[in-house]
Amino acid sequence: MLSGAGLSAESGVPVFRGAQGLWRTHRPEDLATPQAFRRDPRLVWEWYAWRRDVVAACAPNDGHRAIARRAARGGVAVVTQNVDGLHARARGEVASDGDVAYPLLELHGALSRDRCSGCGARTAAVSVDTTSADRLPRCGRCGSLLRPDVVWFGESLDPSVLDTSFRLASEATVCLVVGTSAVVHPAASVPLATRHAGGTVVEVNPEPTPLTRYAAVSMGGPAAEVLPQLLG
Ligand code: OAD
Ligand code: ZN
Repeated sequence: MLSGAGLSAESGVPVFRGAQGLWRTHRPEDLATPQAFRRDPRLVWEWYAWRRDVVAACAPNDGHRAIARRAARGGVAVVTQNVDGLHARARGEVASDGDVAYPLLELHGALSRDRCSGCGARTAAVSVDTTSADRLPRCGRCGSLLRPDVVWFGESLDPSVLDTSFRLASEATVCLVVGTSAVVHPAASVPLATRHAGGTVVEVNPEPTPLTRYAAVSMGGPAAEVLPQLLG
């Protein structure tokens, strides 16, 4: 399955597109870029510190939990564009004896980690003082600025995460697509790998998307209501 921000909407995590997506007056497309980080790292960190606070105050919803329960029975891989970590938290919440360890592929990285903008070293997220540019966190090895370990516009996805996602999608008989506007590639192409290999796409989204015409079934309700019925 492939998920996007709409899956976490009912947990209280704002989606990216539409009026809800603005932070102050900024569009995510203007902040989630390497150029924005070079121009004003303090502003970008302020946005991510806010997003971390939002996510910390949220919990997985019934949609995340339904996916985790179904995936733990086997034969399912979870590919997500979300950086909020709620799939992993749901897996921890519903864990029981006999669960299968299923693949969880975070295509766009994770808010819970930092990465050095110089040497690339990854660490768990540190707390960030955004009061001035010279207080921003720096790498213990090379002294460059740390940044969130997420993929920004114009950057490449981790090739091994991407290859595994496409391989699993091409081997799947069904790709369930939940809560994504399906406009950001290559993530939005993952379900097409299932389709091209002769499999079926099933979409859960209150709005039509560019993937809707490839979907054998489209369900228009909110993910937290539809998924427990669909996967239960
Ligand atoms: P978007 O904000 O673009 O789209 C959210 C989708 O969720 C829309 O199609 C909504 O119709 C749908 N939606 C809203 N509420 C829903 C609900 N309760 N149940 C089901 N669907 C619902 O988010 P993404 O498609 O995830 O990338 O955005 C893709 C990427 O663009 C993100 O990963 C991020 C962003 O910029 C990077 O940061 C690289
Ligand atoms: Zn470094």
